[in-house]
Amino acid sequence: MEQKFIPKSLAASKESGKVTWQTPSNIALVKYWGKKNPQLPENTSISFTLSNCHTTTTLTYGKRKDVKGTYDFKVILDGKEQEDFKPKIETFFKRIERYVPFLREYTFIIDTKNSFPHSSGIASSASGMSAIALCLMSIEKEININLTEEAFYQKASFLARLGSGSACRSVKGDIVVWGEHENIEGSSDLYGIPYKDGVASVFKNYQDTILLIDKGEKQVSSTVGHNLMHGHPFAEQRFLQAQENINKIKDIFANSDVDQFIALVESEALTLHAMMMTSNPYFILMKPNTLEVINQVWAYRKKTGSKLCFTLDAGANVHLLYPENEKETVQEFIKNKLAIYCKDKSFIHDCVGNGAKQLTI
Ligand code: DP6
Repeated sequence: MEQKFIPKSLAASKESGKVTWQTPSNIALVKYWGKKNPQLPENTSISFTLSNCHTTTTLTYGKRKDVKGTYDFKVILDGKEQEDFKPKIETFFKRIERYVPFLREYTFIIDTKNSFPHSSGIASSASGMSAIALCLMSIEKEININLTEEAFYQKASFLARLGSGSACRSVKGDIVVWGEHENIEGSSDLYGIPYKDGVASVFKNYQDTILLIDKGEKQVSSTVGHNLMHGHPFAEQRFLQAQENINKIKDIFANSDVDQFIALVESEALTLHAMMMTSNPYFILMKPNTLEVINQVWAYRKKTGSKLCFTLDAGANVHLLYPENEKETVQEFIKNKLAIYCKDKSFIHDCVGNGAKQLTI
C-alpha cells in the first residue's frame, strides 16, 4: 500500500525555488494514543481542524554542488536559526526519503513561524510537520505535473504522519479522520482523510478557545507517552473503545446531538489522561488549574444549560469547545471567570477551519 507513494522517477529538475504553506493545528475529539512502527495508529482518531492556530513555513531549496553524506538543511524559527529542531527533522527526513527521493539533492532552508506564541504549550509539531510535508509536495508537483489534487494532499498527509502522527490530520479541513475504521469509507492508517459523512451545521463552525494553563516544556513527550501504551494493562480495551467512539461520533455529527458530543469528547479527554496515569511509569500532565477549569465548566453548564465542554491534548492546556451561537456569552465567561487560571491570563480564540493554504506559487 505504501508503494503507491514511491515515485516512479523523480530526479529533481529545478535548480532552485521557494514555496510557502500555511498549515493549521488540529484538536482531536477521539484521541490517537498508542502507535506501532512506523507511525501507525493503534486506533482511529478524528479531529477538528483549527483556523487561527497555524504555522507558516517557507522552504527555500537549491541544488547541491556535490551530494555527499546526509541531508543539507537549516531550520529558522521566528528569524533565528534553531539547532535543536534538527534531530527531529532529520528523523523525519530519514523516514520519508523512500518517498521523496530528491531530498539529498537540495540544500534546504526551512523558515517557519507559528501564529501562536512559541512555548505556549500548544503543540506545534502537527502544523509544523504538515507544513514541511506540503512544501516538499509542491516541489514534487513541479517534477510530476500529472499528480492529481487528491493524490497531492493524500501524499502530503502520508508524509506528515511520518513526522508526527497527528500532523496527518493537519492538512485538510474541517473534520479529519485518521486510522482505518470499518464504518468510514476510505479511512486509512497511512494518512488522514476529510470526513465525508453527514455533519449537522452546528458542528461546522464550532468554537475552540485554548486556555494556556502551563507554558512550560512537557515533562513527558507524546512519543514517550505513546510508547508506554505497549504492554499497558488497559491498552486493548482503550483501542476498542476508541473504535466504538468513532461509531458514536458519526451518529452525533449526523443527528446534531450536542449533549452526546459533550459526553463523548470529555470522556475521551479524561480517558487519554487516565491512560497516562495508569502507564508504567505513570505520569500526570494536568495541573491543578486544569482541574479548576474543568470544575468551573461543569458548574457553568449546570447553572446556565450551556453546551460548553472541554477537551485536553497531551498537556495541561484546556480546549474549550462550544457552538457558535454561544460565542458571546461563553467568551465573556472565559474572560471573567477562567482567565485567572491561565498563565499571564492568556487564551486563544479559535474555531473550526478549512485546512492548509499555499501562500506562494
Ligand atoms: C494526545 O502526534 O504528537 O494530541 O506521533 O509521536 O508525534 P507523535 O505524537 P503526536 O501525538 C498526539 C497525541 C494527542 C492526541 C491526538 O492528537 O490525537
